[in-house]
Amino acid sequence: MDAPIGVFDSGVGGLSVLRALRAELPHESFVYMADAGHSPYGEKGEAHAMDRSEDITRSLRRDWNIKALVIACNTATAAAVASLRQQHPDIPIVGVEPALKPAVHDSLTRHVGVIGTRVTLLSHKFASLRESLAGDCRVSVMPCDGLADAIEREDVDTTTELIMRYLDGLRPFGQHTKQIDQLVLGCTHYVFIADLIQRLTGAHVRLLDTGAPVAKQTRRVLADKGALRSPLAPLPETVLLTSGKAEALTRAAHRWVLPSLKPAQAVHMEAHHAQSQ
Ligand code: DGL
Repeated sequence: MDAPIGVFDSGVGGLSVLRALRAELPHESFVYMADAGHSPYGEKGEAHAMDRSEDITRSLRRDWNIKALVIACNTATAAAVASLRQQHPDIPIVGVEPALKPAVHDSLTRHVGVIGTRVTLLSHKFASLRESLAGDCRVSVMPCDGLADAIEREDVDTTTELIMRYLDGLRPFGQHTKQIDQLVLGCTHYVFIADLIQRLTGAHVRLLDTGAPVAKQTRRVLADKGALRSPLAPLPETVLLTSGKAEALTRAAHRWVLPSLKPAQAVHMEAHHAQSQ
């Protein structure tokens, strides 16, 4: 099937997932939508993330005829994956959620930390994930207000100040009893500051993100449907769209995905809901 796979996030964070998707599925075409004109999702409430996700999915289907959708945003997944699947039962929809399962499984100290947005960490979806997985393991969570937005704005000083403050609220990190030995990056934006986070936690704390497992899951669902693109098909394309500034998405994509990607296009998306204006 020649149609592209749609991928979206509130901004540049989902590029960390796009990078993993391109590595796992080198023959596929992608359309990536950064909804920077309506970010951050993580602090605007669940209804906003749901409305935006519904609008984006409709327009990716209408304008690009996508054959599958990857929600490259923990916040949008928590808010909207169930309703999107209900409204679009004919295409596979893959979401991302904080990598709590491997963290709990591998924690020797039986204490894991999770950082993410307020909407994700306060969602029912995350509460049931935690409930079903934690068992004897302590799970400490830290909503990081402002952090995804600072990363999106490439504001290094605010990013550094915020992550230092939030990690201080979770300490101690380490490999001794009761210390946090696994830290889940529960927002796709945070993957881009993984080096900084690792410096602050110390080298012995494992950081977990979901790019690679989500890419594998996408391959599986497409293979099951017989919808993988043939390696013999014409060269695949990656199209970058944004409801914010095209230069910002192009710069981030060139830095984090591939310097030769075509420049991003700014798109005007009608908002169908009052909350998302
Ligand atoms: N990248 C999104 C996530 O994974 C959130 C960013 C935002 O708050 O808009 O949760």
